Amino acid sequence: MANDILLRKFQNIKLTELTGGYTNYTLLLERSNPLVIAKIFNKNNSDAKSEMNTLTLLNNSGVSPRIHDYFEDDTSSYIIMDYIHGINGQRFLDQGDMDKAREIYKLLGVRLSNEIHSIKQKNSHSELPIIVLVNGGIDSLDFVPSDVKDRVKHILDIHVKEEKTIIHGDYGPHNTIVSDDSMVVIDWEWGGWGHPLQDIAWVLWFVHLHYPDFSKELSEIFLNAYCLHSTIQITEEAVKAFALSRVINILNRIKNANTNVKNEWLRRLEWTMKTNFVG
Ligand SMILES: Nc1ncnc2c1ncn2[C@@H]1O[C@H](COP(=O)(O)OP(=O)(O)O)[C@@H](O)[C@H]1O
Ligand SMILES: [Mg+2]
Repeated sequence: MANDILLRKFQNIKLTELTGGYTNYTLLLERSNPLVIAKIFNKNNSDAKSEMNTLTLLNNSGVSPRIHDYFEDDTSSYIIMDYIHGINGQRFLDQGDMDKAREIYKLLGVRLSNEIHSIKQKNSHSELPIIVLVNGGIDSLDFVPSDVKDRVKHILDIHVKEEKTIIHGDYGPHNTIVSDDSMVVIDWEWGGWGHPLQDIAWVLWFVHLHYPDFSKELSEIFLNAYCLHSTIQITEEAVKAFALSRVINILNRIKNANTNVKNEWLRRLEWTMKTNFVG
């Protein structure tokens, strides 16, 4: 039966579903000590390995949940990690708690440059995927009109100095758990080696799309905090290219989704091309 493996490995626990997602779900292992969760993926989904490998590299950083175990059964992969107490960071934005939102964007910047992008690729860490600008390409996406493809390619045709660090891949308040005195970054399944601008661009993209009224202020707080310990060049042109690249990655992942989902992401693609992200 599904999840028998958890009941065999952990005695006297009770399994409670925390979230059920499209590609994975999380269970709380109640009464485990320390208190842990299992994030469960389809076995043929390579994201599980990316998350496990990224969490392993970050295990002593304090920025991510500690990973305890990784195993598989016939159908699924299981990542066992610490349960983090707190509230999803995006909730504070949705509730209009601007003091907390400012604090979160500052911490997002500090953590990203100090604890995440400070880990540079070395030969010894080779198991993670390499995430390049436009991973997957756009030509095979038959639901993207050809004139849009041409404009996208033009924007993506930029030159940036090569740099490879750990990147999160879906960094932002929605993937944090915040309490009074801490902020932990979760959901590393799109993690890999890539250019730091991938994560920077995604933070700016996300706040401009979802919170346009606060985007100027929160972007500035984030960028100032990030740049305190980094000399990276953050230009409008590069941010737009990296944000577009991430949108194309998502378009590739939703190839088989319904028309509404595809149309929404096509709209976001167009929106990304005409939005200014750096003040
Ligand atoms: N280590 C954790 N501690 C507590 N809750 C967690 C933890 N990991 C995930 N969750 C909960 O599960 C949700 C989804 O997890 P996440 O890793 O973001 O997966 P998804 O790919 O579905 O976004 C989170 O928003 C959070 O509520
Ligand atoms: Mg998530």
